[in-house]
Amino acid sequence: MLLDFFSRKNATICIDIGFRNIKVTEVRKKSGNHVIVQKFGIAKTPRGCISNGSIFDAPSAINAISGIIRQNKMRAKSSKIIMSGTNIITRVCTADKIPGEDFHTTVKKHVIPYYLPTIKNDYQIDYKLLETIHQEEKEIYKIFITAVPKIVLQSYVRVLQGLNLIPVSVDIPANSAAKFFHKAASVDITRYWPKEERVSDKDLSTFAVIDFGSETTIVNIFQNKVLEFNRVILCGSSNIDEQIAKTCKLKDEDAEIQKINYGMLPPSTNSPVEHHQVNKTVHSFICKLTKQIQDCFHFFNQRDYSGSISKVFVMGGGSQLLGLDKHLESTLGIPVYPVSLLDLDGIKIDRKIEKKHLNYLVNSIGISL
Ligand SMILES: Nc1ncnc2c1ncn2[C@@H]1O[C@H](COP(=O)(O)OP(=O)(O)OP(=O)(O)O)[C@@H](O)[C@H]1O
Ligand SMILES: [Mg+2]
Repeated sequence: MLLDFFSRKNATICIDIGFRNIKVTEVRKKSGNHVIVQKFGIAKTPRGCISNGSIFDAPSAINAISGIIRQNKMRAKSSKIIMSGTNIITRVCTADKIPGEDFHTTVKKHVIPYYLPTIKNDYQIDYKLLETIHQEEKEIYKIFITAVPKIVLQSYVRVLQGLNLIPVSVDIPANSAAKFFHKAASVDITRYWPKEERVSDKDLSTFAVIDFGSETTIVNIFQNKVLEFNRVILCGSSNIDEQIAKTCKLKDEDAEIQKINYGMLPPSTNSPVEHHQVNKTVHSFICKLTKQIQDCFHFFNQRDYSGSISKVFVMGGGSQLLGLDKHLESTLGIPVYPVSLLDLDGIKIDRKIEKKHLNYLVNSIGISL
């Protein structure tokens, strides 16, 4: 019983509300910033629940989350929530340290007005020091700034309050991904490419993480596990369904099934007509999306950073599209791995939760850290 009480006290319910799916984990903190992911549940986001990044219909969101909590017998009392990727402004910027002025004053007086000149009081601004670079005589701050409309933030707080859980924090996907990938130790590529010469790859100096969601595709680039770049592309896997529905004259739900069945697998001469149609549509969509991802990589490489992107991790439901990893790999010219191949330092996942679910778990685990 004492153990039960202890576990409840240290456990947190972490919620990631995506446009398509709501993911909930129960995570218990252990000493030394180690965590155990004890429970995981996923359910469809009620239609029309999110609009413009805001929770538009709080009662149905609360209802869906309560259902997941009940079904999975989650009992933690405190909660954290991740916002949808839209409507969030992020900047990674640098500023010289000014002698005699503290960090916070520099950010408020010089950095925010310069990098976010149009942001007004209706935005909640947050910032954190990523690192201090020592360059010749100078010290340079590298800062991550986030701005979110207060009204959007409030809509997420209302959900936590409606769940009768103690609200601990509301965060953005970039921060949770950054916390999660800080724990990345190596990628076990032997399971993926079972060639003898390939073993555990520990080079995680510069890598990208792409979250293929339903309505958004989020590109993050990390250097020495510090987030250096974040961009939300406002299209995602559900847009493929729309295109297939249009070309093949199907309902969106049926189009989604075709997308999942055929993905980017090339048809043969004997394949049914719909395979040819679906392949053409998916291919054309993914090529356009990959171009936008390449533009992000190009932008990052142009900035004055050492080291180019050596590998890409993909996550999110849309990353399971058949043939996507191979397409990205040949177009981007770098290895692409599913996030489930990562070996993580200090994150234990209960045996009952399949590792492939990491696709959906990253944000909700990240926020718990
Ligand atoms: N096997 C599969 N192949 C292709 N796509 C898939 C597969 N499984 C799920 N998807 C797609 O993944 C998407 C849902 O993924 P996810 O749960 O990561 O999105 P979300 O987090 O709700 O969206 P967002 O991040 O944009 O708010 C859906 O569009 C679904 O069709
Ligand atoms: Mg998502």
